[in-house]
Amino acid sequence: MGKMDGKVALITGGASGLGAEDARVLAREGAQVVITDVQDELGAQVAAEIPGCLYLHHDVRDEARWTEVVVATLDRFGRIDTLVNNAGMVRFGTIEDLSYEDFRFQTDVMLGGTFLGCRVAIPHMSRDGCGSIVNMASVAALKGISTIPAYTAAKAGIIAMTRSIAVHCREQAYRIRVNAIAPGGIVTPMTAQALAELPQDAAGLDQINAHGMGQPSDVAKMVLYLACDDGRHITGTCITIDNGETMA
Ligand SMILES: NC(=O)c1ccc[n+]([C@@H]2O[C@H](COP(=O)([O-])OP(=O)(O)OC[C@H]3O[C@@H](n4cnc5c(N)ncnc54)[C@H](O)[C@@H]3O)[C@@H](O)[C@H]2O)c1
Repeated sequence: MGKMDGKVALITGGASGLGAEDARVLAREGAQVVITDVQDELGAQVAAEIPGCLYLHHDVRDEARWTEVVVATLDRFGRIDTLVNNAGMVRFGTIEDLSYEDFRFQTDVMLGGTFLGCRVAIPHMSRDGCGSIVNMASVAALKGISTIPAYTAAKAGIIAMTRSIAVHCREQAYRIRVNAIAPGGIVTPMTAQALAELPQDAAGLDQINAHGMGQPSDVAKMVLYLACDDGRHITGTCITIDNGETMA
């Protein structure tokens, strides 16, 4: 028996890094999985590894496409139990360097994409106690990092919005749990980009390097916990997975 037998999971940003690993782990536990992304070639490759997995092109800023993705998931698999709002990206620059366009782009993708995902999917998600939304935040939301002010703002917004949506679902007795995860440094293409682009003494990187980075599976196991019945009594919270990065 898998922990996700009979459940259907929809994962954004599933072509790479954490999203791809979430898809593998949930599928290994019996979930039927739909992944979406803007990187079609990589997305198709990840889907080909996972039996029955459906890949769909979707820029999470596109509200109309959200509806099509939800309908396509219901057509193929008949239900949506888990939504992982994972898609994300980062553009570097301090408050003096970053353009407003770059600020808007990052908040649109991460905070806006998460808002749209919850708004469009919730009316169609399982109401039998299986519904679970996992929003990908970051420990960046909990610190001051001078080089990524828009990223930190988007992730802090995701944590706050997660609580509000969780309360709404509880007030409506939807039995859909809504949680966020705040990873620290995890080895993915995104952190490879950060390590390549930022000076090694940039805020946060020295700490991450000193104590070692996590693996995508460290996060995917928590996504699984929150998605399956093990997490049945957890909603409205943000779980930090950072090997103590934010402890001091
Ligand atoms: N890797 C880390 O250390 C770390 C730490 C904290 C939080 N996170 C968060 O985890 C999530 C996954 O990051 P990752 O490290 O796996 O990075 P990644 O770059 O490997 O994967 C992110 C995926 O999101 C997709 N994406 C970007 N913009 C999109 C859009 N507009 N619409 C749809 N898909 C889009 C990308 O194409 C990519 O496949 C992100 O939200 C990131 O902010 C990562």
